[in-house]
Amino acid sequence: MSRTFYVNGEFVAEENAKISVLDRGFLFGDAVYEVSTILKGRLIDNTAHLKRLARSLAELAMAPPCSDEEIVAAQLKLVEMNNLDEGLLYLQVSRGVADRDFAYPANAKSSLVMFTQAKNLLDSPMATQGMHIISIPDQRWKRRDIKTVGLLAPCMGKQAAVDAGVHDAWMLEDGLVTEGTSNNAYIVTHDKKIQTRHLGHEILSGITRQAVLKFAKQAGYTVVEEPFTIDEAREASEAFITSASTFVMPVVNIDGVVLGDGKPGPVSTELRKIYIQTALEHQDL
Ligand code: PDD
Repeated sequence: MSRTFYVNGEFVAEENAKISVLDRGFLFGDAVYEVSTILKGRLIDNTAHLKRLARSLAELAMAPPCSDEEIVAAQLKLVEMNNLDEGLLYLQVSRGVADRDFAYPANAKSSLVMFTQAKNLLDSPMATQGMHIISIPDQRWKRRDIKTVGLLAPCMGKQAAVDAGVHDAWMLEDGLVTEGTSNNAYIVTHDKKIQTRHLGHEILSGITRQAVLKFAKQAGYTVVEEPFTIDEAREASEAFITSASTFVMPVVNIDGVVLGDGKPGPVSTELRKIYIQTALEHQDL
């Protein structure tokens, strides 16, 4: 059965989900997006995702396509129409359709498209085996705090990881880890502190990051929001990533260097468990 897509107020079959070639998202990457988790048919931490969407739009002086209430109603209807129990909901807002010109058009109407992807998120073999990653230079633009669809550098990074036979890549700038291709990056130091880069223009403010750091503090961990080098990561006691599609995912090998005993560590495992348990019990984390 074909999936139902949402395109500017209409719920349509995949083959009819189309936008104009003059859409600025297509021509300039002039669009922002969000990916929300769905567990047991419910959207997880969606309020926080919509808040970050509003911030991305504001940073680019892009008009919201409709109210948050209308977005939520459309999201819920789409999840229901696609009978989705577990997976992801992708939402993209572009500045809309206008003849090609770099400056923002005066009267463009923002476009909103959404679709769902069924995915096993809870039962992930990677969570028990751990991820292998490589490090690569961060070749992205300088406003990574805005969640734009300009994702060619992360695509190149992910492909470099695939070519190297590993799961993902961590990006380096001035010798420091920024983040993974589509996730935030963490290490656990030998004195059990959880370290991740501070927020700023250099990384995306992850919604999962926000929740996981809160849970880590509640569980009694010290959280250090400071950048770390790739050497510090290779020598760490544990490493992990967070994102809406992976929750907390342990990293067990960096550039061929095995971390600890090569198995997911206790801190990452505990944080993954807390995140999943809380997400199954509450919608807003
Ligand atoms: N990516 N950093 C980057 C560069 C990301 O693209 C993402 C999310 C994150 C984690 O953010 P969050 O916890 O809000 O998912 C960090 C999504 C999942 C994607 O592009 O598919």
